[in-house]
Amino acid sequence: MSELLMGWKRTHLCAEPAIESVGQEEVLMGWVARRRDLGALIFVDLRDRSGIMQIVFDQGDLSAEDFARAEHIRNEFCIAVKGQIVKRDPETVNEKLATGYIELRVSEFKLLSKSETPPFYIEDDVNVQEMLRLKHRYLDLRRPEMQETLRLRHRLAKATRDYFDENGFMEIETPMLGKSTPEGARDYLVPSRVHPGAFYALPQSPQLYKQLLMVSGMDRYFQIVKCFRDEDLRADRQPEFTQIDVEMSFVDIDDVLSINEGLIKRLFKEGIGADIKLPLKRLTYKEAMARFGSDKPDTRFGLELCDISDIAKGCGFQVFSGAVEKGGSVRAINAKGCVEKFARREIDALVDFVKIYRAKGMAWISVTNEGLKSPITKFLTEDETNAILSRLNAEIGDILFFIADSDDIVFDSLGNLRLELAKKLDLIPEGTFDLLWVTEFPLLEWDAENKRFSAKHHPFTSPMDEDIPLLDTDPGKARAKAYDIVLNGTEIGGGSIRIHSVELQEKMLGVLGFSKERAWQSFGFLMEAFKFGPPPHGGIAYGLDRLTMLLGNRTSIRDTIAFPKIQNAACPLTDAPGEVEAKQLRELHINVRN
Ligand code: AMO
Ligand code: AMP
Repeated sequence: MSELLMGWKRTHLCAEPAIESVGQEEVLMGWVARRRDLGALIFVDLRDRSGIMQIVFDQGDLSAEDFARAEHIRNEFCIAVKGQIVKRDPETVNEKLATGYIELRVSEFKLLSKSETPPFYIEDDVNVQEMLRLKHRYLDLRRPEMQETLRLRHRLAKATRDYFDENGFMEIETPMLGKSTPEGARDYLVPSRVHPGAFYALPQSPQLYKQLLMVSGMDRYFQIVKCFRDEDLRADRQPEFTQIDVEMSFVDIDDVLSINEGLIKRLFKEGIGADIKLPLKRLTYKEAMARFGSDKPDTRFGLELCDISDIAKGCGFQVFSGAVEKGGSVRAINAKGCVEKFARREIDALVDFVKIYRAKGMAWISVTNEGLKSPITKFLTEDETNAILSRLNAEIGDILFFIADSDDIVFDSLGNLRLELAKKLDLIPEGTFDLLWVTEFPLLEWDAENKRFSAKHHPFTSPMDEDIPLLDTDPGKARAKAYDIVLNGTEIGGGSIRIHSVELQEKMLGVLGFSKERAWQSFGFLMEAFKFGPPPHGGIAYGLDRLTMLLGNRTSIRDTIAFPKIQNAACPLTDAPGEVEAKQLRELHINVRN
């Protein structure tokens, strides 16, 4: 024990003593969150991880010397106090605090360490620049709401380990220093000292290792694991993040989904005490796109998309008919009752909004009690207009928004318009959890820039059995045995049943533009393993940071990570990444170009 603590032993955390403790002598240690100096009495809120206890320095209880010392205590000083727990005077009771009926009257105290004036107030809902918070993250983490978020994250990790353990899963660690493989995001590379010019890659996920573990007969694997992706950051993305990674043998889609629904139920219960009803909703990718314009639909509100391509096809409005002729579509959203809410200026702002998503324009019809107002009805016959109004169940007061383009642009822009309208109209109920599976994803997506297919999920995802022949004839149409789990419009996890045959894996890589030689160079270790009796297998991975963010009702993923990175992937606290010594570079055979 340090000299400073000599003879002192903490008896409780600050918020532990309850009304039953009245009369007892306790020793608490923590930080000064607030002090009020009333002359002969000094009140201090003493804070630790558990919460706050009010402590009282009374001139009458302490020697003149000790009381003088107490007068010098300031915010964030770290102190130890000994004294009796007493009931508070009725007028000083604070019902908002767990310890609001009691206080500790100090008989002895020790200053453990002083603090400079912190650069920001250490309390919840402080309006401080995030950069400043991150630079002094150790102070930011003293704030109760940050501690509560990390506690939630701990509970989720603990519930995950308990659940998987109870269900026969083994947690197995996989390497951080691996091989760079093509596909996916950009890798973080680590230079090898002993292999000049060669690099390890930090894992983007343990995907191939967990599949190899299935070939090993591990049967049921999980891991809470760091993953690294050098991609552009957003509010829900970090360059290093944590997955709950899962893989199972001898399973098909329903087996994986059902084990995972059990996990979800457990996480909500133990994380935030919420009861989730099982089974979860399922939507096919096709239905999700058609109804919500998104493969991660937020179904907490309506504003569904409506296809009017058949009406638009032969109509006199060239923008509409042309889009359908070119193989695209015309779709619409009925913004119910919005005539009152949106003036022309707001409508124009929404037209600008969809342009972010590559829409070339957006047509609209306002259904007012003075008739229709619209820039496009003049191009339509009365029958066509009526057919559109009736398809969209239009009533007086509604505004209808239309986009004509290729399907991907129509979905992207209307899907985002839907979310924007819901925000503007305050349609999203708070405190509800909307969970669903999206299934039957396309296996491939067309990469127009490089004029080739890329895997929608990853190249190890199995096609649906009945779609395997399409790999030879029309690969773009093949569906995958892939699924995502979506919570309130955010993808929290995704996975698939995997390919487990050398032939099919070779064929899939071929469709992705790999020559046989390059396929074996890149993924030979997996296909080699598939020569030795691989079991059918599949799995999933969740983003633990994202889950914590959504369950903890935080708006930034950074709030769920003790020491996160900012937009440019730097750490404001340590200043990583940093330059290194010339000697280190020489040992790594690296020349830095300036
Ligand atoms: P996927 O790439 O979909 O699948 O990742 C799984 C989940 O990880 C989370 N996630 C992220 N969270 C924070 N920051 C990021 N940059 C980030 N990237 C992904 C998301 C996502 O749903 N190996 C496959 C899984 C499998 O097939 O089993 C994989 O990694 O919540
Ligand atoms: P214009 O003929 O260019 O004046 O366009 C008439 C209306 O059609 C305007 O309200 C445009 O915003 C709208 N518009 C233009 N392009 C599209 C499109 N791709 N989809 C839907 N509406 C469009």
